[in-house]
Amino acid sequence: MAVTTRIEEVRHELTELAEKSANAPELMQAMVKMLHNRMLKYNWVGFYMLEPGAQPPVLVLGAFEGAMTPHTRIPLNQGICGAAASSGQTVVVDDVSKDARYLACSLETKSEIVVPIFAKGTIVGELDIDSHFPAAFTSEHQDLVQHCAMLVGKKLEAGRQ
Ligand code: SME
Repeated sequence: MAVTTRIEEVRHELTELAEKSANAPELMQAMVKMLHNRMLKYNWVGFYMLEPGAQPPVLVLGAFEGAMTPHTRIPLNQGICGAAASSGQTVVVDDVSKDARYLACSLETKSEIVVPIFAKGTIVGELDIDSHFPAAFTSEHQDLVQHCAMLVGKKLEAGRQ
């Protein structure tokens, strides 16, 4: 029998979740729950979506699992979240105490990953995950979180046809 890692297992479950979800909001709600429950070092998991038409652009907190955060609206020139959205690139921070951009959500947070979500080539939001463990987001984890962002992007595209 092939040995599967937890990451492979969860990746498979997430793909199935995307197939059976009726729409993007349903998928995002179930995805944050699954990532938070199944990945032991993912202590806060949430989506920030760009507010349609907002000038200047702003990220608005969407579905999330974990403690309530004071950061419900983040301009693109603030935080790790703003950096990921303005650059369109994944941002991984192994030690948040050493990153001047970091906006604190919980005193226990040690590391963070933010992955942008694209629909039809345009950035529409991002998936943000915080860990109580330093350097929790190794390249395998980056792949998993990027897979999640891709699944949500595809679901959003399907809803806009
Ligand atoms: N740490 C983020 C803010 C969001 S909270 O972590 C949930 C940032 O620096 O942008």
